[in-house]
Amino acid sequence: MEYVKSKKYDIPIIKEKIMGPNPIKLEEELLRDNRIPAGAVVMDLGSGQGVTSVFLAREYGFRVYAADLWSDPSDNQRFFDEMGAPREQLIPVKADATNLPFEKAFFDAVVSVDSYNYFGRDPKYLDDCLLPVLKPGGYLYLVFPGMKRDCHDDLPPELLLSWTPEQLAYMHDMAYWRRMFSQSTAKLLSLRETEGNEELWRDWLECDNEYAVNDRKSMEAGGGKYLNFIIAVLQK
Ligand SMILES: C[S@@+](CC[C@H](N)C(=O)[O-])C[C@H]1O[C@@H](n2cnc3c(N)ncnc32)[C@H](O)[C@@H]1O
Repeated sequence: MEYVKSKKYDIPIIKEKIMGPNPIKLEEELLRDNRIPAGAVVMDLGSGQGVTSVFLAREYGFRVYAADLWSDPSDNQRFFDEMGAPREQLIPVKADATNLPFEKAFFDAVVSVDSYNYFGRDPKYLDDCLLPVLKPGGYLYLVFPGMKRDCHDDLPPELLLSWTPEQLAYMHDMAYWRRMFSQSTAKLLSLRETEGNEELWRDWLECDNEYAVNDRKSMEAGGGKYLNFIIAVLQK
């Protein structure tokens, strides 16, 4: 697909902060034809260094809570100020996805890019941890890295050039995720692979940071043929 909105974010400050295959393009594809109205209160779950949160606020007009465990909210606040995001529209929060510090039914929607596979692999996670903070009828838009077919019993050597079996255990195929979501009370509206794949990886592998350099080994050896990105849209 053509990532029309993402083009504006092909700038050094964003490239410095991305943590994997182009999260802005992943988010643009995730939200194509989305049903979240402008002005909605949205959590960016696993927002990292905040690039996906800035995109949600500026491009879609949501009021965004950037919720993340590993990043520092004051660093994210500085970045949001630098990007000119109004403080009342974009709020950084230190938060563990398994123990979210929000009122019940607070959010109109939750968006999550390249994070859900860290904490969402427990069949009880959705009902116990995430759905309570979402309003009835609210939407979940998730995109995360996956595998075309689960191959954890016989991992291809190409993948092991960059990642350990423990790291690869975070990635699964669509059948796995369908089973996972079917164990919650949320309604699964859509489950599909992204169209973008090579382009998103290329944007990441061109970055200079040590993680991108490490990922080049597998991708240059052809490991990409086993991997995809999975989009899931659910409704409470
Ligand atoms: C690969 S980064 C993605 C960040 C951002 N969405 C992006 O695409 O640039 C994964 C993020 O998941 C977050 N994460 C992992 N486990 C988490 C948890 N239990 N609660 C909240 N965030 C978590 C980490 O803090 C990390 O920033």
